[in-house]
Formats: sequence, C-alpha cells, structure tokens
Amino acid sequence: MHEKNLIAGFSKWPKSKKIQWLVETYAAHPEETSRDLAGFWHPNKELQRIIDGFSENTISNYALPYGIAPNFLIDGRYFAVPMVIEESSVVAAASSAAKFWADRGGFHTRIIDTRKVGQVHFFWNGDFKLLQEHHDELEKSLLQTVGPLTVNMRKRGGGILDLKLLDLSDLEPGYRQLRVSFETCDSMGANFINSVLEAFAEGLQLFIAQHPALSENPHEVDVLMAILSNYTPECLVEVWVECPEEELGGFAGRFAQAVRIAEIDPYRATTHNKGIFNGIDAVVLASGNDFRAIEACGHAYAARDGQYRSLSKCTVENGLFRFSLEIPLALGTVGGLTKLHPLAKRTLELLGNPSARELMSIVASVGLAQNFAAIRSLITTGIQRGHMKLHLLNILNHLGASEAEITAAQTYFDGKTVSHSAVQHFLNGWREATQVSQGVLMAVKKG
Ligand code: MEV
Repeated sequence: MHEKNLIAGFSKWPKSKKIQWLVETYAAHPEETSRDLAGFWHPNKELQRIIDGFSENTISNYALPYGIAPNFLIDGRYFAVPMVIEESSVVAAASSAAKFWADRGGFHTRIIDTRKVGQVHFFWNGDFKLLQEHHDELEKSLLQTVGPLTVNMRKRGGGILDLKLLDLSDLEPGYRQLRVSFETCDSMGANFINSVLEAFAEGLQLFIAQHPALSENPHEVDVLMAILSNYTPECLVEVWVECPEEELGGFAGRFAQAVRIAEIDPYRATTHNKGIFNGIDAVVLASGNDFRAIEACGHAYAARDGQYRSLSKCTVENGLFRFSLEIPLALGTVGGLTKLHPLAKRTLELLGNPSARELMSIVASVGLAQNFAAIRSLITTGIQRGHMKLHLLNILNHLGASEAEITAAQTYFDGKTVSHSAVQHFLNGWREATQVSQGVLMAVKKG
C-alpha cells in the first residue's frame, strides 16, 4: 500500500479537496472522474447542502430512476405509485399487474398490528425468579424514568406497550433480556425507541443495584447493548387480490403451483421473495424509508418456522383464485428523511400524505403486484421476453446508439428476441447500410 492511500482528517476537508485527493489517488481518469462527480451536484446549493447532510463524506449524488406505476386500486382508492429502482422491467411489471387487478376489484388490505420491538441485552447472574417477582415495580420505575421522553409520543396515541424480562441464560451464561414493545404511530420510531432503550438500560442497572431484595445478591448488571430490533413480526399487513379462476386465462392452477414451489423450496423462495422486494424496496426508497430494515425483517419473517419460504400464498378453491401476501413493514410517514428528502416528500404528497398504516397497505400491494407479474410471466411467456425488451435501451446506450439507431432498433426488435449480440449485429448492419446509402447520396449530389 502506498503512503498516499492512507488519509487522516478526510471528513473535515471541504468537498473540493476530498474530490481532488480522491481522483489524484484512485482515479484512472482524474479529470473525467471529477467532472462526472461534480456533474451530479444539484444546481440548488441549499438543497445540495441538505442532501450532503444525510450522510458522511458526500462528494456527489447517485442518480436512480424515479418512475410511476399508475392504476393501483387499493382498498377502493386509486394511486399512482412512485418507485425508485434501476431494474428496467420492474415498474412496467407493477403497472401491468395494477391494471389487471384494477379491473377485478383491486387490492384489499388489512393491518394486523403495528407493534415495534426493542431490546436491552444484559448479563446478570442474579436470581432471575426474584427479578421476575419485582417485574411490576421495575416496570413502574422504568416508565417513570422515560416519562419526559415519551410524553409527545403518548399524546399522539403511541408509546410503550409492554415490557418483558427474558431469561436466556440457558443459551448463553448469564444472558438476560428486556424486550419492549412500542407503538410509534406515523413515525418509524428508530430514534424514539433507541433513546427509550438507552434510558431503560441505565434504569435497569440502578433498579437492581438499589433494590433491597436484589442488591443483596452480589451480582452486577452488565448491559451489553440497547437497540431496537428490526424483526417486527407484529408490525404486519396482509394484502390480497381475488377473482373467478377463469379470468386468469387458464393459468390459475399453474400459478398456484409456482407459489407452492416457493413455499417448499428455499432456492426458489429466495428468488420469489426477491421479486416481491423489487416492488417493496422501490416504494420504500421513494418514500425515504429504510429499505435495508424492511428487507432484513421480511426475510427473517419468511424463515419464521425454521425454513425460508415464500411470503405470498395462493389458493384456487371453489372457482375462486386468491393470491395474498402477509408481510411485516415497519414504515414511517413522519420523521427521518420522509420530509427532508425533497423527492421523498413529493412521493408522500403524490400518495395523498398517507398515514404509516396506509403506506403499509400501498407498499404491500406493490409487492404483491410485482410477485403476480413475475409469476405470470414465468409460467406463460418466460421472463426474458419482457426483461430483454426493456433492457434493449440499456444495451443500445451501452453501444453508443444514436436516437435514430434507437428508434430503428426498437422497431426491428418488436416481437423478436433481444440479446446483446443480436443488438450489436443489428447496429453493425444498420451502420454499414447507412454509410452505403450516405455514400450513394453524396455520389448522386456530386453527379
Ligand atoms: C427479477 O428481478 C425477479 C424475478 O426473478 C422474480 C421471480 O423469479 O419470481 C423475476
């Protein structure tokens, strides 16, 4: 490693100095790299300052497409749903499934619960039964400690729902846990939950140290960490679509089989659920929510019985096709980036400024729509036809096609199989033919 690669105080440097050092040290083409990095700065300096503040060491903005999937009929209301995603066929697939189901009653949703979870992990070798006996006292004391922290949340109808002491010392010597449930209303609530938990951690230590019955016990509490859990199996929404079986054009049974395979085979389940998250992540990202938290939780939920399975279910019974998804979604529509990111704010506005519960319904519906579209393609035409059709533009751009060449290629490939080599072949032929005809034209003009 070269000396110049090691850097101190980088975070304190102004953006221009960071870029200069970066391109001089790491870029193959320093000038072009700094030009491209600066090329994505927002012309509105104040806005750029806010975006820079979201993270550390920011030197540019990374552009992703912001698309719209219209015609989502959800619980009787129409939505045009913003989606941020780079994969070419996702928005088209969501839109097509939305249209299909809008003609069949749309998406129906039910919020099962909105409970979130936090944990204080501690080690204590004292008598757990004795601690349990003083559970109510402990709870009262902890709730008192966090009174000022929770007052606003309580006014909004949320706060701490319950508090459990768990003895996990059979898994790890001395390991005990305080598990707390929260209602955080329209906010995702991460900061609220973590602040409460850190206060609980201190309160717990004091309670045990000062309680006459417990302090006789010569064991100290060692709090290892206090943090929310991204596993929120009780922050749950169900979404479903249904219609007479015959409306599916004869593929209802095969569709149900495809879902069944994702229930029993983890290899297929992973891809199947990835398709669901294509839709979910895109809306979560567009709304300024944390898609990593949503993904982590969804996958943990998919494995809740010990085997990773499909998150969606399908039945065909008494002539009725029913396709549903049950998924934990801990989302917020206030706080975090939701109002700070200029486009996250617009996303929420375009969705009618939903409550967190409404956003759960919208996001889950897009997930189910995406899953429907993917399976429908897989069991009928195959996925590549639609995929490659939309990928055609990426290939053309990659090959430096002009606007005229793009139009010609799109006309040529309509109904044909798209592949990188086929497009390259077409472009070569097109360019040769154009050169020849230009030559002929010149010769005619000269003559
Ligand atoms: C591609 O991004 C997603 C799919 O693979 C999902 C699926 O197979 O169900 C098409």
